[in-house]
Amino acid sequence: MKKPETIFVCQSCGHQSRKWLGKCSECGEWNSLIEERAQATRKGAGRSGFKLREVAAVAYSEIESQDEARVSSGVTEFDRVLGGGIVPGTLVLIGGDPGIGKSTLLLQVADKLSANEGAVLYVSGEESERQIKLRGERLGIGAKNLYLLPETNLENIFHEVERLNPTAIVVDSIQTVFSAMIESAPGSVSQVREAAHQFLLLAKNRTIPIFLIGHITKDGSIAGPKALEHVVDTVLYFEGERHHNHRIVRAVKNRFGAANEIGIFEMTGSGLVPVANPSQMFLQERPQNVAGSVVTACMEGTRPLLVEIQALVSKTKYGTGRRMTQGVDQNRVALLMAMLERRVGVELLGDDVFVNIAGGLEVDEPAVDLGVVAAIASSFRNTPIDAQTAVFGEVGLTGEVRATTQAVVRAREAQALGFKTIIMPSSNTSGLERMLGLRAVGVRSVEEALDALF
Ligand code: TYD
Ligand code: MG
Repeated sequence: MKKPETIFVCQSCGHQSRKWLGKCSECGEWNSLIEERAQATRKGAGRSGFKLREVAAVAYSEIESQDEARVSSGVTEFDRVLGGGIVPGTLVLIGGDPGIGKSTLLLQVADKLSANEGAVLYVSGEESERQIKLRGERLGIGAKNLYLLPETNLENIFHEVERLNPTAIVVDSIQTVFSAMIESAPGSVSQVREAAHQFLLLAKNRTIPIFLIGHITKDGSIAGPKALEHVVDTVLYFEGERHHNHRIVRAVKNRFGAANEIGIFEMTGSGLVPVANPSQMFLQERPQNVAGSVVTACMEGTRPLLVEIQALVSKTKYGTGRRMTQGVDQNRVALLMAMLERRVGVELLGDDVFVNIAGGLEVDEPAVDLGVVAAIASSFRNTPIDAQTAVFGEVGLTGEVRATTQAVVRAREAQALGFKTIIMPSSNTSGLERMLGLRAVGVRSVEEALDALF
Protein backbone atom coordinates (compact mmCIF):
# COMPACT_ATOMS: atom_id res chain seq x y z
CA MET A 1 0.00 0.00 0.00
CA LYS A 2 1.26 3.46 -0.83
CA LYS A 3 2.08 5.61 2.16
CA PRO A 4 -0.10 8.73 2.29
CA GLU A 5 1.93 11.66 1.10
CA THR A 6 2.72 14.34 3.62
CA ILE A 7 4.12 17.81 3.29
CA PHE A 8 5.43 20.28 5.84
CA VAL A 9 3.64 23.58 6.02
CA CYS A 10 4.91 26.70 7.76
CA GLN A 11 2.18 27.78 10.19
CA SER A 12 3.35 31.33 9.96
CA CYS A 13 3.51 32.04 6.22
CA GLY A 14 2.00 28.95 4.58
CA HIS A 15 5.20 27.95 2.79
CA GLN A 16 5.29 24.25 1.86
CA SER A 17 8.28 21.99 1.96
CA ARG A 18 8.89 18.31 1.16
CA LYS A 19 11.06 17.79 4.21
CA TRP A 20 11.05 19.14 7.71
CA LEU A 21 13.14 22.22 8.35
CA GLY A 22 13.95 23.90 11.65
CA LYS A 23 13.66 27.30 10.04
CA CYS A 24 11.21 28.25 7.33
CA SER A 25 13.16 29.14 4.23
CA GLU A 26 10.45 31.59 3.19
CA CYS A 27 9.74 33.77 6.23
CA GLY A 28 12.62 32.79 8.51
CA GLU A 29 10.38 31.69 11.38
CA TRP A 30 11.83 28.98 13.65
CA ASN A 31 10.01 25.74 14.46
CA SER A 32 6.99 26.69 12.44
CA LEU A 33 6.84 23.72 10.04
CA ILE A 34 4.16 21.16 10.79
CA GLU A 35 3.46 17.94 8.99
CA GLU A 36 0.17 17.89 7.08
CA ARG A 37 -1.41 15.39 4.78
CA ALA A 38 -0.88 16.46 1.19
CA GLN A 39 -4.23 17.39 -0.28
CA ALA A 40 -5.64 14.81 -2.63
CA THR A 41 -6.93 16.48 -5.74
CA ARG A 42 -10.63 15.93 -6.00
CA LYS A 43 -11.87 13.81 -8.83
CA GLY A 44 -12.37 15.74 -12.03
CA ALA A 45 -10.88 18.87 -10.55
CA GLY A 46 -7.53 18.33 -12.23
CA ARG A 47 -6.35 19.73 -15.51
CA SER A 48 -7.84 16.92 -17.56
CA GLY A 49 -11.34 17.58 -16.20
CA PHE A 50 -11.16 21.24 -17.10
CA LYS A 51 -13.96 22.54 -19.32
CA LEU A 52 -14.13 25.89 -21.05
CA ARG A 53 -16.86 28.14 -19.77
CA GLU A 54 -18.28 31.31 -21.34
CA VAL A 55 -16.86 34.38 -19.64
CA ALA A 56 -17.33 37.97 -20.73
CA ALA A 57 -15.55 41.13 -19.67
CA VAL A 58 -17.72 44.07 -18.63
CA ALA A 59 -17.09 47.62 -19.81
CA TYR A 60 -15.75 49.81 -17.01
CA SER A 61 -18.21 52.59 -17.86
CA GLU A 62 -21.17 50.25 -17.50
CA ILE A 63 -20.40 49.24 -13.95
CA GLU A 64 -22.60 51.04 -11.47
CA SER A 65 -21.00 52.97 -8.68
CA GLN A 66 -21.63 51.28 -5.35
CA ASP A 67 -20.90 53.98 -2.88
CA GLU A 68 -24.40 54.44 -1.55
CA ALA A 69 -24.68 50.73 -0.94
CA ARG A 70 -23.02 50.87 2.47
CA VAL A 71 -25.07 49.63 5.37
CA SER A 72 -24.75 51.06 8.86
CA SER A 73 -23.74 48.52 11.50
CA GLY A 74 -25.60 50.57 14.09
CA VAL A 75 -22.37 51.13 16.05
CA THR A 76 -20.89 54.50 15.04
CA GLU A 77 -17.23 53.81 15.71
CA PHE A 78 -17.43 50.42 14.01
CA ASP A 79 -18.84 52.10 10.90
CA ARG A 80 -15.96 54.55 11.03
CA VAL A 81 -13.18 51.91 11.03
CA LEU A 82 -14.86 50.17 8.14
CA GLY A 83 -14.70 53.40 6.15
CA GLY A 84 -18.26 54.63 6.73
CA GLY A 85 -20.40 51.53 7.08
CA ILE A 86 -20.46 47.93 5.93
CA VAL A 87 -20.00 47.18 2.24
CA PRO A 88 -22.24 44.22 1.31
CA GLY A 89 -20.29 41.21 0.11
CA THR A 90 -17.25 42.09 2.17
CA LEU A 91 -15.17 39.69 4.25
CA VAL A 92 -13.81 41.28 7.42
CA LEU A 93 -11.20 39.72 9.70
CA ILE A 94 -11.01 40.92 13.31
CA GLY A 95 -8.05 40.04 15.48
CA GLY A 96 -6.99 40.84 19.02
CA ASP A 97 -5.75 39.47 22.33
CA PRO A 98 -7.92 36.99 24.21
CA GLY A 99 -10.51 38.74 26.34
CA ILE A 100 -10.11 42.13 24.68
CA GLY A 101 -13.71 42.25 23.45
CA LYS A 102 -13.91 40.71 19.98
CA SER A 103 -16.93 38.54 20.74
CA THR A 104 -18.58 41.36 22.65
CA LEU A 105 -18.25 43.87 19.82
CA LEU A 106 -19.48 41.48 17.16
CA LEU A 107 -22.42 40.32 19.23
CA GLN A 108 -23.43 43.95 19.59
CA VAL A 109 -23.04 44.53 15.87
CA ALA A 110 -24.95 41.32 15.09
CA ASP A 111 -27.78 42.47 17.35
CA LYS A 112 -28.04 45.89 15.68
CA LEU A 113 -27.82 44.37 12.19
CA SER A 114 -30.50 41.81 12.94
CA ALA A 115 -32.83 44.56 14.13
CA ASN A 116 -32.26 46.76 11.06
CA GLU A 117 -31.46 44.39 8.20
CA GLY A 118 -32.87 40.94 8.87
CA ALA A 119 -31.70 37.54 10.11
CA VAL A 120 -28.09 37.39 11.29
CA LEU A 121 -26.24 34.12 11.87
CA TYR A 122 -23.68 33.98 14.69
CA VAL A 123 -21.54 30.87 14.33
CA SER A 124 -19.54 30.05 17.42
CA GLY A 125 -17.03 27.26 17.73
CA GLU A 126 -15.83 28.54 21.08
CA GLU A 127 -18.90 29.05 23.19
CA SER A 128 -22.24 27.34 23.60
CA GLU A 129 -25.56 29.11 22.90
CA ARG A 130 -26.05 29.48 26.65
CA GLN A 131 -22.74 31.26 27.11
CA ILE A 132 -23.50 33.61 24.26
CA LYS A 133 -26.95 34.24 25.62
CA LEU A 134 -25.42 35.04 29.01
CA ARG A 135 -23.17 37.63 27.41
CA GLY A 136 -26.12 38.95 25.42
CA GLU A 137 -28.13 39.45 28.58
CA ARG A 138 -25.27 41.44 30.03
CA LEU A 139 -25.27 43.57 26.90
CA GLY A 140 -29.01 44.04 27.11
CA ILE A 141 -29.60 42.32 23.79
CA GLY A 142 -33.12 41.24 23.03
CA ALA A 143 -32.58 40.39 19.37
CA LYS A 144 -35.37 38.33 17.85
CA ASN A 145 -33.75 37.91 14.49
CA LEU A 146 -30.36 36.73 15.70
CA TYR A 147 -29.56 33.03 15.28
CA LEU A 148 -26.82 31.20 17.14
CA LEU A 149 -25.08 28.16 15.73
CA PRO A 150 -22.49 26.31 17.83
CA GLU A 151 -20.82 24.44 14.99
CA THR A 152 -17.32 24.03 13.65
CA ASN A 153 -17.84 22.00 10.50
CA LEU A 154 -17.70 24.20 7.42
CA GLU A 155 -20.09 22.06 5.38
CA ASN A 156 -22.69 22.05 8.15
CA ILE A 157 -22.39 25.79 8.53
CA PHE A 158 -22.92 26.30 4.80
CA HIS A 159 -25.92 24.01 4.88
CA GLU A 160 -27.50 26.10 7.61
CA VAL A 161 -26.70 29.31 5.70
CA GLU A 162 -28.66 27.92 2.74
CA ARG A 163 -31.66 27.29 4.96
CA LEU A 164 -31.58 30.48 7.03
CA ASN A 165 -30.55 32.89 4.27
CA PRO A 166 -29.03 35.43 6.68
CA THR A 167 -28.20 39.05 5.82
CA ALA A 168 -24.90 38.86 7.71
CA ILE A 169 -22.72 36.17 9.28
CA VAL A 170 -20.31 36.28 12.23
CA VAL A 171 -17.80 33.44 12.64
CA ASP A 172 -16.25 33.19 16.10
CA SER A 173 -13.47 32.13 15.42
CA ILE A 174 -12.04 31.17 12.02
CA GLN A 175 -9.44 28.92 13.72
CA THR A 176 -12.15 26.61 15.04
CA VAL A 177 -13.79 26.03 11.65
CA PHE A 178 -12.70 23.00 9.69
CA SER A 179 -13.68 21.45 6.40
CA ALA A 180 -14.23 17.71 6.13
CA MET A 181 -12.74 17.89 2.62
CA ILE A 182 -9.31 18.58 4.05
CA GLU A 183 -7.52 16.11 6.26
CA SER A 184 -5.36 18.50 8.25
CA ALA A 185 -6.21 19.29 11.86
CA PRO A 186 -8.53 22.20 12.67
CA GLY A 187 -6.59 25.41 13.15
CA SER A 188 -3.78 24.36 10.78
CA VAL A 189 -2.80 26.65 7.95
CA SER A 190 -4.50 24.62 5.24
CA GLN A 191 -7.77 24.47 7.17
CA VAL A 192 -7.84 28.13 8.11
CA ARG A 193 -6.97 29.22 4.60
CA GLU A 194 -9.54 26.95 2.99
CA ALA A 195 -12.27 28.04 5.41
CA ALA A 196 -11.50 31.72 4.86
CA HIS A 197 -11.54 31.20 1.12
CA GLN A 198 -14.91 29.46 1.25
CA PHE A 199 -16.34 32.31 3.32
CA LEU A 200 -14.98 34.80 0.80
CA LEU A 201 -16.83 33.04 -2.01
CA LEU A 202 -19.95 32.86 0.14
CA ALA A 203 -19.80 36.60 0.89
CA LYS A 204 -19.33 37.50 -2.79
CA ASN A 205 -22.00 35.09 -4.06
CA ARG A 206 -24.64 36.19 -1.60
CA THR A 207 -23.47 39.82 -1.32
CA ILE A 208 -23.68 39.71 2.44
CA PRO A 209 -21.03 40.85 4.91
CA ILE A 210 -19.17 38.12 6.80
CA PHE A 211 -17.11 38.85 9.91
CA LEU A 212 -14.38 36.41 10.90
CA ILE A 213 -12.86 36.58 14.36
CA GLY A 214 -9.20 35.54 14.37
CA HIS A 215 -6.91 34.48 17.18
CA ILE A 216 -3.59 36.18 17.37
CA THR A 217 -0.22 34.70 18.14
CA LYS A 218 2.22 35.85 20.79
CA ASP A 219 3.85 38.36 18.50
CA GLY A 220 0.49 39.88 17.70
CA SER A 221 -0.30 38.73 14.19
CA ILE A 222 -3.34 36.68 13.27
CA ALA A 223 -2.70 33.00 13.85
CA GLY A 224 -2.47 30.99 10.69
CA PRO A 225 -0.86 32.21 7.56
CA LYS A 226 -0.20 35.81 6.80
CA ALA A 227 -1.96 34.77 3.61
CA LEU A 228 -5.24 35.02 5.50
CA GLU A 229 -4.85 38.79 5.52
CA HIS A 230 -4.51 38.72 1.75
CA VAL A 231 -7.70 36.75 1.30
CA VAL A 232 -10.02 39.08 3.21
CA ASP A 233 -11.13 42.59 2.22
CA THR A 234 -10.60 44.25 5.56
CA VAL A 235 -8.40 43.47 8.56
CA LEU A 236 -9.18 45.04 11.92
CA TYR A 237 -7.06 44.70 15.05
CA PHE A 238 -7.90 45.44 18.64
CA GLU A 239 -5.00 47.48 19.96
CA GLY A 240 -3.68 48.37 23.35
CA GLU A 241 -4.06 46.53 26.61
CA ARG A 242 -6.82 45.23 28.74
CA HIS A 243 -5.71 47.41 31.64
CA HIS A 244 -7.30 50.45 30.10
CA ASN A 245 -11.00 50.99 29.95
CA HIS A 246 -10.94 52.04 26.36
CA ARG A 247 -10.44 49.77 23.38
CA ILE A 248 -9.02 50.82 20.03
CA VAL A 249 -9.92 49.00 16.84
CA ARG A 250 -7.62 49.79 13.94
CA ALA A 251 -8.06 49.00 10.25
CA VAL A 252 -4.67 47.75 9.08
CA LYS A 253 -6.02 46.88 5.66
CA ASN A 254 -9.21 48.02 3.99
CA ARG A 255 -10.16 47.56 0.37
CA PHE A 256 -13.12 49.88 0.87
CA GLY A 257 -11.79 52.67 3.03
CA ALA A 258 -8.80 54.38 4.59
CA ALA A 259 -6.33 52.06 6.26
CA ASN A 260 -5.17 53.14 9.72
CA GLU A 261 -8.61 54.42 10.59
CA ILE A 262 -9.39 53.79 14.23
CA GLY A 263 -12.55 53.31 16.24
CA ILE A 264 -12.47 54.07 19.94
CA PHE A 265 -14.71 52.34 22.44
CA GLU A 266 -15.09 52.24 26.16
CA MET A 267 -15.58 48.86 27.83
CA THR A 268 -18.43 49.24 30.28
CA GLY A 269 -20.56 46.91 32.35
CA SER A 270 -22.91 46.66 29.42
CA GLY A 271 -20.54 46.19 26.54
CA LEU A 272 -18.51 48.44 24.26
CA VAL A 273 -19.72 52.01 23.94
CA PRO A 274 -18.37 54.29 21.18
CA VAL A 275 -16.41 57.25 22.54
CA ALA A 276 -17.84 60.46 21.16
CA ASN A 277 -14.88 62.74 21.82
CA PRO A 278 -11.64 60.72 21.90
CA SER A 279 -9.28 63.69 22.23
CA GLN A 280 -11.07 64.73 25.36
CA MET A 281 -10.82 61.20 26.72
CA PHE A 282 -7.09 60.95 26.07
CA LEU A 283 -6.45 64.29 27.76
CA GLN A 284 -8.75 63.67 30.71
CA GLU A 285 -6.12 62.84 33.27
CA ARG A 286 -3.45 65.20 32.04
CA PRO A 287 -1.40 66.68 34.86
CA GLN A 288 -1.24 70.48 35.00
CA ASN A 289 2.02 72.41 35.20
CA VAL A 290 4.29 69.38 35.38
CA ALA A 291 7.57 69.24 33.49
CA GLY A 292 7.81 66.60 30.76
CA SER A 293 4.23 66.66 29.54
CA VAL A 294 3.05 68.13 26.25
CA VAL A 295 0.02 67.73 24.01
CA THR A 296 0.44 66.94 20.35
CA ALA A 297 -2.03 66.63 17.50
CA CYS A 298 -1.71 63.47 15.43
CA MET A 299 -3.82 62.01 12.66
CA GLU A 300 -5.31 58.55 13.04
CA GLY A 301 -6.75 57.69 9.66
CA THR A 302 -8.92 60.63 8.71
CA ARG A 303 -9.46 61.84 12.26
CA PRO A 304 -7.27 64.22 14.26
CA LEU A 305 -6.50 63.14 17.80
CA LEU A 306 -4.89 65.08 20.61
CA VAL A 307 -2.65 62.99 22.82
CA GLU A 308 -0.34 63.70 25.70
CA ILE A 309 3.33 62.81 25.34
CA GLN A 310 5.20 62.30 28.58
CA ALA A 311 8.94 62.21 29.04
CA LEU A 312 11.02 61.55 32.11
CA VAL A 313 14.70 62.40 32.13
CA SER A 314 16.63 61.40 35.25
CA LYS A 315 20.25 60.78 36.22
CA THR A 316 21.21 57.20 35.50
CA LYS A 317 22.50 54.89 38.19
CA TYR A 318 24.54 52.92 35.69
CA GLY A 319 27.25 53.83 33.24
CA THR A 320 25.06 54.45 30.25
CA GLY A 321 21.54 55.76 30.35
CA ARG A 322 18.53 53.58 29.63
CA ARG A 323 16.07 54.51 26.91
CA MET A 324 12.54 53.23 27.02
CA THR A 325 9.50 54.16 24.99
CA GLN A 326 5.87 53.19 25.00
CA GLY A 327 3.55 54.05 22.14
CA VAL A 328 6.28 55.62 20.00
CA ASP A 329 9.05 54.01 18.00
CA GLN A 330 12.18 53.62 20.12
CA ASN A 331 14.54 54.16 17.20
CA ARG A 332 12.79 57.33 16.22
CA VAL A 333 13.17 58.65 19.76
CA ALA A 334 16.87 57.69 19.82
CA LEU A 335 17.35 59.64 16.63
CA LEU A 336 15.58 62.70 18.02
CA MET A 337 17.68 62.56 21.18
CA ALA A 338 20.90 62.44 19.15
CA MET A 339 19.64 65.47 17.25
CA LEU A 340 18.86 67.27 20.52
CA GLU A 341 22.39 66.64 21.79
CA ARG A 342 24.10 67.82 18.65
CA ARG A 343 21.96 70.75 17.58
CA VAL A 344 20.53 72.16 20.77
CA GLY A 345 23.11 71.02 23.29
CA VAL A 346 20.77 69.00 25.49
CA GLU A 347 23.24 66.50 26.99
CA LEU A 348 21.38 63.25 27.66
CA LEU A 349 24.27 60.80 27.75
CA GLY A 350 24.26 60.36 31.52
CA ASP A 351 20.50 60.24 31.81
CA ASP A 352 17.78 57.63 31.66
CA VAL A 353 15.11 58.78 29.23
CA PHE A 354 11.58 57.40 29.21
CA VAL A 355 8.95 58.48 26.69
CA ASN A 356 5.33 57.43 26.89
CA ILE A 357 2.09 58.18 25.08
CA ALA A 358 -0.55 58.52 27.79
CA GLY A 359 -3.58 56.28 27.47
CA GLY A 360 -1.89 53.36 25.73
CA LEU A 361 -2.27 54.70 22.21
CA GLU A 362 0.34 53.89 19.59
CA VAL A 363 1.37 56.63 17.19
CA ASP A 364 3.78 56.18 14.33
CA GLU A 365 3.50 59.47 12.56
CA PRO A 366 6.46 61.80 12.02
CA ALA A 367 4.27 64.73 13.06
CA VAL A 368 4.65 63.74 16.71
CA ASP A 369 8.44 64.36 16.54
CA LEU A 370 8.20 67.92 17.80
CA GLY A 371 6.04 66.77 20.69
CA VAL A 372 8.60 64.12 21.69
CA VAL A 373 11.41 66.67 21.49
CA ALA A 374 9.42 69.22 23.53
CA ALA A 375 8.54 66.68 26.22
CA ILE A 376 12.16 65.55 26.60
CA ALA A 377 13.45 69.13 26.68
CA SER A 378 10.79 70.09 29.22
CA SER A 379 11.74 67.26 31.56
CA PHE A 380 15.45 67.91 31.03
CA ARG A 381 15.07 71.59 31.94
CA ASN A 382 12.51 70.76 34.61
CA THR A 383 10.28 73.47 33.16
CA PRO A 384 6.60 72.83 32.52
CA ILE A 385 5.04 73.67 29.17
CA ASP A 386 2.01 75.95 29.19
CA ALA A 387 -1.08 73.77 29.56
CA GLN A 388 -2.94 75.58 26.78
CA THR A 389 -0.24 75.07 24.18
CA ALA A 390 -0.13 72.18 21.73
CA VAL A 391 2.68 71.30 19.32
CA PHE A 392 3.11 69.26 16.17
CA GLY A 393 5.64 68.96 13.33
CA GLU A 394 8.11 66.58 11.79
CA VAL A 395 11.74 67.05 12.86
CA GLY A 396 14.69 66.36 10.58
CA LEU A 397 18.23 65.35 11.49
CA THR A 398 19.57 68.88 11.24
CA GLY A 399 16.95 70.07 13.68
CA GLU A 400 14.71 71.60 11.02
CA VAL A 401 10.94 71.45 11.53
CA ARG A 402 9.15 70.21 8.44
CA ALA A 403 5.63 70.66 7.19
CA THR A 404 3.04 67.99 7.99
CA THR A 405 -0.11 66.92 6.25
CA GLN A 406 -3.56 68.07 7.42
CA ALA A 407 -2.20 70.97 9.48
CA VAL A 408 -5.56 72.76 9.45
CA VAL A 409 -7.43 69.71 10.70
CA ARG A 410 -4.96 69.26 13.56
CA ALA A 411 -5.08 72.92 14.55
CA ARG A 412 -8.86 72.93 14.46
CA GLU A 413 -9.01 69.96 16.81
CA ALA A 414 -6.66 71.74 19.22
CA GLN A 415 -8.85 74.83 19.09
CA ALA A 416 -11.98 72.78 19.66
CA LEU A 417 -10.48 71.44 22.88
CA GLY A 418 -9.68 74.90 24.17
CA PHE A 419 -6.00 75.25 23.29
CA LYS A 420 -4.93 78.88 22.83
CA THR A 421 -1.54 78.49 21.20
CA ILE A 422 -0.20 75.99 18.74
CA ILE A 423 3.46 75.61 17.85
CA MET A 424 3.82 74.16 14.39
CA PRO A 425 5.89 74.14 11.19
CA SER A 426 6.13 77.67 9.80
CA SER A 427 5.33 76.49 6.29
CA ASN A 428 1.92 75.31 7.52
CA THR A 429 0.78 78.47 9.28
CA SER A 430 -0.38 80.66 6.40
CA GLY A 431 -3.90 81.95 6.98
CA LEU A 432 -4.44 79.64 9.94
CA GLU A 433 -4.72 82.30 12.64
CA ARG A 434 -7.33 84.26 10.76
CA MET A 435 -9.27 81.11 9.97
CA LEU A 436 -9.31 79.61 13.44
CA GLY A 437 -8.68 82.51 15.78
CA LEU A 438 -5.94 80.83 17.81
CA ARG A 439 -2.29 81.80 18.07
CA ALA A 440 -0.32 79.76 15.55
CA VAL A 441 3.42 80.09 16.13
CA GLY A 442 5.31 78.96 13.05
CA VAL A 443 8.79 77.58 13.73
CA ARG A 444 11.53 76.59 11.32
CA SER A 445 13.82 74.72 13.69
CA VAL A 446 13.79 72.87 16.99
CA GLU A 447 15.68 75.78 18.58
CA GLU A 448 12.95 78.20 17.57
CA ALA A 449 10.34 75.82 18.90
CA LEU A 450 12.07 75.50 22.28
CA ASP A 451 12.46 79.28 22.48
CA ALA A 452 8.75 79.67 21.84
CA LEU A 453 7.89 77.02 24.46
CA PHE A 454 10.11 78.14 27.35
P1 TYD B 1 -14.80 38.97 24.96
O1 TYD B 1 -15.65 39.68 23.98
O2 TYD B 1 -15.27 37.66 25.44
O3 TYD B 1 -13.31 38.84 24.45
P2 TYD B 1 -12.71 38.04 23.21
O4 TYD B 1 -13.83 37.50 22.41
O5 TYD B 1 -11.89 39.08 22.49
O6 TYD B 1 -11.83 36.99 23.78
O7 TYD B 1 -14.60 39.98 26.16
C1 TYD B 1 -14.53 39.55 27.42
C2 TYD B 1 -14.06 40.63 28.36
O8 TYD B 1 -14.86 41.80 28.32
C3 TYD B 1 -14.12 40.09 29.73
O9 TYD B 1 -12.87 40.30 30.35
C4 TYD B 1 -15.21 40.85 30.41
C5 TYD B 1 -15.35 42.10 29.59
N1 TYD B 1 -16.73 42.57 29.47
C6 TYD B 1 -17.13 43.74 30.06
O10 TYD B 1 -16.35 44.42 30.73
N2 TYD B 1 -18.43 44.19 29.90
C7 TYD B 1 -19.33 43.48 29.17
O11 TYD B 1 -20.49 43.92 29.04
C8 TYD B 1 -18.92 42.25 28.58
C9 TYD B 1 -19.86 41.43 27.77
C10 TYD B 1 -17.61 41.84 28.73
MG1 MG C 1 -14.33 35.45 22.15
